[in-house]
Amino acid sequence: MKHILIIGGTGMLQDVAGYFTAQGYYVTVLARNAGRLYALKKRFIKQPGKIIPIAQDYRDWKTSIQKINDVTEKICTVDIAVLWIHATGKIFSDKLKEFLFTHNPEIIVYQLLGSASIHPISLTNIEWKKNHPDRYREIYLGYVQNGSSTRWLTDKEIAGGVIRAIENDVQDYIVGDLEPWNQKP
Ligand SMILES: NC(=O)c1ccc[n+]([C@@H]2O[C@H](COP(=O)([O-])OP(=O)(O)OC[C@H]3O[C@@H](n4cnc5c(N)ncnc54)[C@H](OP(=O)(O)O)[C@@H]3O)[C@@H](O)[C@H]2O)c1
Repeated sequence: MKHILIIGGTGMLQDVAGYFTAQGYYVTVLARNAGRLYALKKRFIKQPGKIIPIAQDYRDWKTSIQKINDVTEKICTVDIAVLWIHATGKIFSDKLKEFLFTHNPEIIVYQLLGSASIHPISLTNIEWKKNHPDRYREIYLGYVQNGSSTRWLTDKEIAGGVIRAIENDVQDYIVGDLEPWNQKP
């Protein structure tokens, strides 16, 4: 059975968890709120795959990585990782990528980059791209043009975009529009 790790999978990425449980994956999801993790597990309980919840605040990066490591030892290595990590988890984000690239040199890591204020391309991780060009991917979250106005992406649009990015396996993937950035909502 294949294994996907989703950081922040109880929010806008719920449908990504559902897509991969439908494909029969182990889907490990790390988030803080145990109730929302339980609800996610219950939502996809009839799917052939299985949600493995980790209730943990990623600002405690050591415990977070320890718990992810425990799951990989119990289940199997991670094949795909999807990381939606806020700026408060910057250390975790870097330490986790170090861990993931070491524990499975075949892994593909997708990092989501999005901000209401900063252009997502400016958040790019040049070092990770340079060091792991075949294994590290970025997904930039933009906005939607709606006639003469603009709006942010919905959860469904974001999850659908992440699924397409994984299916197409391209190094950079943009969900919605990034340009012109000064037209953002
Ligand atoms: N460009 C765009 O249009 C764009 C970009 C980004 C977001 N959005 C929208 O904005 C809404 C809110 O975004 P959001 O960033 O709050 O995303 P979200 O995906 O709705 O929630 C964040 C996820 O990360 C987890 N999380 C947050 N802090 C954590 C921590 N310290 N440790 C462990 N897990 C943590 C949350 O679970 P816990 O709270 O249980 O920890 C949740 O699973 C979304 O619904 C989305 O549609 C739009």
